[in-house]
Amino acid sequence: MCGIVAYVGNKPCQSLLLEGLKRLEYRGYDSAGIAVIQDGKLNICKSVGRVANLEDKLESIGNFSGKIGLCHTRWATHGGVTDANAHPHVDDRNGIAIIHNGIIENYAALKTYLEEKGHVFRSQTDTEVLAMLIGELYCPAEGIDLEKAVQAALREVTGAYAIAVICEHEPDTLVVARKGSPLIVGIGADEYIVASDAAAIVAHTTRAITLDDYNVVKITTAGFRTSTIHDVPVTPRIEQLELELQEIELGGFSHFMQKEIHEQPKALRNCLRGRTDVRDGRVILGGLGDHAKELTKLRHVVLTAQGTALHAAMIGEYMIEDLAKIPAIAEYASEFRYRNPIIEDGTVVIAVSQSGETADTLAALIEAKERGALSLGVINSVGSSISRLTDAGVYLRVGPEIGVASTKAFTGQVAVLTLITLFLARRRYMSADTCAEYLKALETVPDKIDQILTQNDRIRRVTEKYVDRENWLFLGRGYNYPTALEGALKLKEISYIHAEGMPAAEMKHGPIALINEGMPAVFLANRGRQYEKVMSNIQEVRARGGHVIAVATEGDEEIKRYAHDVLYVPDIPEPLSPMLTVVPLQLMAYHAAVLRGHDVDKPRNLAKSVTVE
Ligand code: M6R
Repeated sequence: MCGIVAYVGNKPCQSLLLEGLKRLEYRGYDSAGIAVIQDGKLNICKSVGRVANLEDKLESIGNFSGKIGLCHTRWATHGGVTDANAHPHVDDRNGIAIIHNGIIENYAALKTYLEEKGHVFRSQTDTEVLAMLIGELYCPAEGIDLEKAVQAALREVTGAYAIAVICEHEPDTLVVARKGSPLIVGIGADEYIVASDAAAIVAHTTRAITLDDYNVVKITTAGFRTSTIHDVPVTPRIEQLELELQEIELGGFSHFMQKEIHEQPKALRNCLRGRTDVRDGRVILGGLGDHAKELTKLRHVVLTAQGTALHAAMIGEYMIEDLAKIPAIAEYASEFRYRNPIIEDGTVVIAVSQSGETADTLAALIEAKERGALSLGVINSVGSSISRLTDAGVYLRVGPEIGVASTKAFTGQVAVLTLITLFLARRRYMSADTCAEYLKALETVPDKIDQILTQNDRIRRVTEKYVDRENWLFLGRGYNYPTALEGALKLKEISYIHAEGMPAAEMKHGPIALINEGMPAVFLANRGRQYEKVMSNIQEVRARGGHVIAVATEGDEEIKRYAHDVLYVPDIPEPLSPMLTVVPLQLMAYHAAVLRGHDVDKPRNLAKSVTVE
């Protein structure tokens, strides 16, 4: 949801800024822009479309050579996709330029106030309002320099922001601040690189300041000062960035989504390492240790998330009830937040999120905490807003996910929710032996995914047969109902094919009317408690001319009599099966998008982390 990069240092910064921006392009790619102060003057260039368009435009107008600057890649919220709405935005008096990720909620009132003061706006964005407000407050003659003007402006603002600001009159100063949107300040040798995430920084330095909400940092080549928006000095927290450069490069794959699908075995081995004790039948989750007592007594689990993370949460819901025998429910964070939820004593809320920045999930978590719930996080992105807010949690440890379509985070989320389930179950009714059996099976998941990945070419050929069909169904029961939802989401978000996922039984309550000759229906038909019932549903589809693609358990020859195409996955206890059955669906979606010629990693209208409600 918008990527920002800013630089102050001793070398011309345009190429460093653009290189960083390309690494953040997954966060938004409607338009891009750059501002650099050169010979005491602000130079700005903006372009609709990708960062590559901006590069071309810069080439044609003459590249910038200044040593302080900032740049932005946008995912539109306020105002359409135009050059005027692209960032940076400038004020109309003092040569101030700002880039922003987040939303200024009271922008309309501020705009009216500023218009009354005579400011003239050129865009429809909330960010331009912030630029004008900083400009209005800026008054060096009265001691209000850029840092103070930014602090004062942010005291007037409600909403979320990560911002970077420069000003012609202070050509060596960069001011950055955050509240609710991520921002990191990388500390290099005689230079500072500020960015929305570490991906834009690690090529230059791994030392960084992580900011808390309401922190403001004034940076020059001589050093930096950290304060709050009320100008209270803050001791900076300097940390080592864990990210390796190779983790954010394609490394021989054509797309990040493809790389991340194929990385799943390795990612899950990392996720499970040190957390399973098969010999004693127990789960080791250091992150939950401090709350082990409360967790023993818990009476109700609410899992909350959006998108793919919600599908993983739904599998968690099934597992927690089935294996740990605790009432559980998975809910859209956006709905949970606003429906006046009842949080009783003994309720734990688990927020599931790859990015840890999803605004809906963050808001639900805040609501749950205010109502007294114990909160846990199942998060990938270390140090993200959600992970900082939860009482405890378990990181996915699957490495950075860059493709907009979530893949390895999904299997990681299900793996962690399995561990949490077993952790809870062992504190209640589950025997060490039963837990050991599940853990043994869980440890086989990475190798089994490796086996599924060897079928990549066949999965592509099957996808090719149906890729021109515009409507698909994904059907499953029990643990694989959420997998059906996930298969449909994957296909629609990157191939733009209309797909619906649903419980297989629900089909006959209406959606069956959609089935016509040749319509693809993907069935999660692996062996499990409801196998026979799924077979009946398959026959209902066939009888109406639908084409059945079945994801089935290896060795199931019978299913070939019913399905037009069968994709096999190895056998595994049913609760763990979604981590296997989802893989052919991820590959189908990937191949469908490539075959249709779409930009797999940057699907239209989407952004990787959705930081607006
Ligand atoms: O970062 P999160 O896991 O909180 O993101 C939640 C959803 O926005 C995300 O899963 C989205 O649905 C993906 N595009 C799915 O591939």
